[in-house]
Amino acid sequence: MQVLVYKDAATIAKAAAAIFAGEIAKKDGYVIGLATGSTPVPTYQELIKMNKEGVLDFSKVISYNLDEYVGLEPTHPCSYRYFMNEQLFDHINIDKNNTHVPNGITCNAEEYEEAIKAAGGVDLQLLGIGSDGHIGFNEPAEDFVYPTNIVKLTDQTIDDNARFFNSRDEVPTSAISMGIGTIMSAKRIILIATGKNKAKAIAAAIKGPVNPAMPASILQMHQNVQFLLDEDAASEL
Ligand code: GLP
Repeated sequence: MQVLVYKDAATIAKAAAAIFAGEIAKKDGYVIGLATGSTPVPTYQELIKMNKEGVLDFSKVISYNLDEYVGLEPTHPCSYRYFMNEQLFDHINIDKNNTHVPNGITCNAEEYEEAIKAAGGVDLQLLGIGSDGHIGFNEPAEDFVYPTNIVKLTDQTIDDNARFFNSRDEVPTSAISMGIGTIMSAKRIILIATGKNKAKAIAAAIKGPVNPAMPASILQMHQNVQFLLDEDAASEL
């Protein structure tokens, strides 16, 4: 596990985008795993910029997103499919048919897991982290859940994500998410965290015991994982 601390979110975004560019260039059909939330947005902006400048080609890239809210149509403005189109896919030369986000209506967990396997697994997975330590939407629990599955969201996550909805009542209470095993099968993982509200989860994930009560702690067992942090997120290490 490698922990890299940067001065701010913009610098992290440049570093993360450079990692993506280096990896994607390695082969046609490169599989990227993508995340939602506000943390990856500056990285997506860098990727868009590089694509527009002609230095990063997405035409042969395949993507799988981590998760989706149960009950939201892909066209719903708060769905993660909508988010990905707006924040990244609509602005780069990726073939939309090669972009995959779990479907929150059909909740096709097994099918999603099989599709990732059939694509050869995720080559590079981008992660954020919830303030409660969740990755994807794998919430603190008594056991790690390995495959793609349906997860009940914690009150903490519903509170945190209410800012994207008109009111807290509109936040779905469950989600479909790649499981811990799906995430751990990625060949390389980068986790980005910025801001003081992530400091406790980051410290527990990196220094604490590997424990399903702190889902991100499982990353200690991965052979090729980098944490890209700003000084606030790293402040309790
Ligand atoms: C959601 C997503 C996670 C993401 C988390 C953090 O819960 N399911 O994948 O890491 O939000 O979001 P933010 O980056 O907005 O803090």
